[in-house]
Amino acid sequence: MSKDWIDWHRAYDDPDSSLSERRQVVSGMVRRFLDEAPPGPLRCLSLCAGEAPDLVDAAAGHARLADVNGVAVELHPDLAAAARSNLGAVGLAIEVRQADASHPAEYVDVLPVDLLLLVGIFGNISDEDVRRTVTAVPALCKLGGTVIWTRHRKPPDLTPQIRVWFDDAGTVSTGFVSRDDGLFGVGGERTTVTADANTLPATLFRFR
Ligand SMILES: C[S@@+](CC[C@H](N)C(=O)[O-])C[C@H]1O[C@@H](n2cnc3c(N)ncnc32)[C@H](O)[C@@H]1O
Repeated sequence: MSKDWIDWHRAYDDPDSSLSERRQVVSGMVRRFLDEAPPGPLRCLSLCAGEAPDLVDAAAGHARLADVNGVAVELHPDLAAAARSNLGAVGLAIEVRQADASHPAEYVDVLPVDLLLLVGIFGNISDEDVRRTVTAVPALCKLGGTVIWTRHRKPPDLTPQIRVWFDDAGTVSTGFVSRDDGLFGVGGERTTVTADANTLPATLFRFR
């Protein structure tokens, strides 16, 4: 990995950073998913999960905590270990896999999921890879599944196009939040169609 992702995470230490603000927005959307989810187990998948701050924030102490299961995929060994520790500390039964999240083969066994987190990915991959990943959503999620995604809005702002790609993939928007300065955008989607996991490409994206 070329970028120092450990150092990148330290922006979370500043509660006033744009990253901390983004975390609050994402966690709020995850909390809404938990609040509104029907009874029963809730399977989650977080790709490029980092230290898993969003899942931890949202699920800690939540009434549905015991229903949550799934997988968080993170390539960096230290960040994967931190995610494992953070998730365990709040009692979340999410398995952390230190693996390449661009390869669906690494988590095909848990598909389809109720909640898919694509947080901190779309600003680091090519437009074509964003499109490929969005197109793959129906094969990753259950019918009515929730997707939460992020992308900065720096010019040229790709978020309008991303939202069209989600529409084309058969999802409906459940919300979109962004800062005026374009430092982040957070989108929520709900799937209205599904596809077989066998249709997934071998590789979804490549980090720049
Ligand atoms: C921008 S950070 C986002 C982390 C987390 N989702 C968050 O919002 O706090 C990107 C993360 O992706 C991880 N990463 C990069 N390439 C990856 C890959 N191919 N598979 C899994 N994780 C990857 C990095 O180590 C880093 O933790």
